[in-house]
Amino acid sequence: MATLPELPDLPELARLRSLAGVKWTRYSPDVLPAWVADMDLPPFPGAVDAVRDLVERGDFGYSFAATAALPEAYATWQRESHGWAPDPAEVRVFCDVLQAVDAALMLRTAPGDGVVLLTPVYPPFFRVVESVGRRVIDCPLEPGTWTLDRERLESVIDDRTTAILLCDPHNPTGRAFTRDELDAIAGVAERHDLLVISDEIWSDLVFAPGEHVPFASLGEDAAGRTVTVSSASKAFNLAGLRCAVAHVGDARLRDGLAALPDHLLGAVGTPGAVAALAAWTGGREWLEGTRAFLSGQREHAAERLADRLPAIGVTIPEATYLLWLDMRALGLGDDPAAWLLEHARVALSPGPDFGPHGRGYARLNLATSRSVLDAILDRIEGVLR
Ligand SMILES: Cc1ncc(COP(=O)(O)O)c(C=O)c1O
Repeated sequence: MATLPELPDLPELARLRSLAGVKWTRYSPDVLPAWVADMDLPPFPGAVDAVRDLVERGDFGYSFAATAALPEAYATWQRESHGWAPDPAEVRVFCDVLQAVDAALMLRTAPGDGVVLLTPVYPPFFRVVESVGRRVIDCPLEPGTWTLDRERLESVIDDRTTAILLCDPHNPTGRAFTRDELDAIAGVAERHDLLVISDEIWSDLVFAPGEHVPFASLGEDAAGRTVTVSSASKAFNLAGLRCAVAHVGDARLRDGLAALPDHLLGAVGTPGAVAALAAWTGGREWLEGTRAFLSGQREHAAERLADRLPAIGVTIPEATYLLWLDMRALGLGDDPAAWLLEHARVALSPGPDFGPHGRGYARLNLATSRSVLDAILDRIEGVLR
């Protein structure tokens, strides 16, 4: 077997290995992690300052101001970033994105109902649908381009399909769906009276010249049947702080949420709320720099792989910091990530976790320093060339 290249003595490795998060603790220290969607870059400094201020004041008493300010801050951020002006009165704060998805499915669909997923897709989507007793309706995207197959979408819907759970921008493929594709989905949703749950957590990481089109901005019908879920956690690197929002355009869901016992869904902790508020009120310049850096990472990785390992099929992401690698031609079986973990000591996300159409694929997280990314690619190339 090929020997692994020596790990360069990178200064950032000491900081990364000191972190308590799952990314750097799940595997042994000889493994370079590029799996879970956390960034190795330090989080948005404005959010760090906001949390530090709380800590320095010892300000851990009951506090509702930041949470109460989030709907307005999110609405303003959306208007200024994506030209969509949601009504802050229809925005509700959640502890995380999947909590809002669970609530929407439980309140607006019935056991046995079908929920469409555009696959391969973010693994917890399968679990949230199945754990509430709904059925996954699989609608695969076109392999390679990961575009929407409109006829397939129309054809998979049965008479018990009541919702579609979108991920736009799309994890793991990095697609930012076009207005045309979203219009086609909106047409299907209207014809079949579907609830649209649009997970737009990656919306602030779309690379120019692409744009993010909020689903609820497509028109009146779309706005009235959509719940848009989001968080500052991906773009500003705050996932451990647990804070998300949902714009509930669907009136029946708003009523359903309003009727729940006050404490059933819990409340966000102050650190999560102040950090998200700092991001959506002062994070634009930092975000632009981060996006430019991540754009460079995707180009660099795609060029290196095309040059040195052309057997891997790479779709350059239009959004996200995720690279979806088609490794089917390499003969590594259904789960190339497992093979790479064993032989290259790099941890990618296993393709099959993203559904049956992820077999033979792996997902690589690009959000690290250029040197760590190069060390990861050196290891992959070292065992595969
Ligand atoms: C599409 C998508 N939705 C939701 C999440 C998780 O959201 P949260 O930070 O609220 O846990 C992720 C995390 O990677 C994601 O990719």
